[in-house]
Amino acid sequence: MKKNVRNAIIAGNWKMNKTPSETTELINAMKPLVKDADCKVVLCVPFVDLDAALKASAGSNIEIGAQNCHFEKSGAFTGEVSPVMLKEMGIKYVIIGHSERRQYFGETDETVNKRLKNALEEGLKVILCVGETLTQREQGITAELVATQTKIALLGVSKEDAKNVIIAYEPVWAIGTGKTATSDQAEEVCAIIRKVIADIYDDNTAEGMTIQYGGSMNAKNADELLGKVNVDGGLIGGASLKAEDFSVIVKAASK
Ligand code: PGA
Repeated sequence: MKKNVRNAIIAGNWKMNKTPSETTELINAMKPLVKDADCKVVLCVPFVDLDAALKASAGSNIEIGAQNCHFEKSGAFTGEVSPVMLKEMGIKYVIIGHSERRQYFGETDETVNKRLKNALEEGLKVILCVGETLTQREQGITAELVATQTKIALLGVSKEDAKNVIIAYEPVWAIGTGKTATSDQAEEVCAIIRKVIADIYDDNTAEGMTIQYGGSMNAKNADELLGKVNVDGGLIGGASLKAEDFSVIVKAASK
């Protein structure tokens, strides 16, 4: 990997899986397997598992993240969680704009932008997800679509704050389907995103930004995907629920 240029980050996205006791068990199993990682290791767990995850990971190289946060600091928003709350708990990362949020929970580019800015204001690091559906890919609008998602998400975000943004390119058709993008497809879109960042900010900001690939990354294909110049890590769903598989991906990113 390009560790000399950028921080490689392997982040697990547990989605709606694992209870607090299962969280403790899985993190305890992962700790010895990833302890020598030469990349950042982050686990984004359900809200109710955050406390157990923080306790289980204390003193290890595993950092903990949430999977969403609201765009206000507090107020009448039943069922929501604000970044102020996450920060006080000691949470470092938050995923924003995952395609499942966009698809099932009415998330739009505008709300993604609001949530992202609120999270950055609290000093959280944001893993911003962008990616096209199969139809959009077939229509040939992947580059445009991903560029637009990226630009709107970063509207009003300063160059300084952009240093706390990680972008995860996640083609929707590859998520949870077992259909991974080829390493060339992943590389092509990650490079497009980096160019968009250079256009918004400058070359240095673009060169320094961690851009991950996500979508059925697993122990078998991680090496090839992570070997690409513009792929600086992964956002891992299914394979992050298995300690052994996740650790193989972490090792691939540590080379
Ligand atoms: P997957 O999920 O690895 O299970 O495809 C990735 C994600 O949705 O972040």
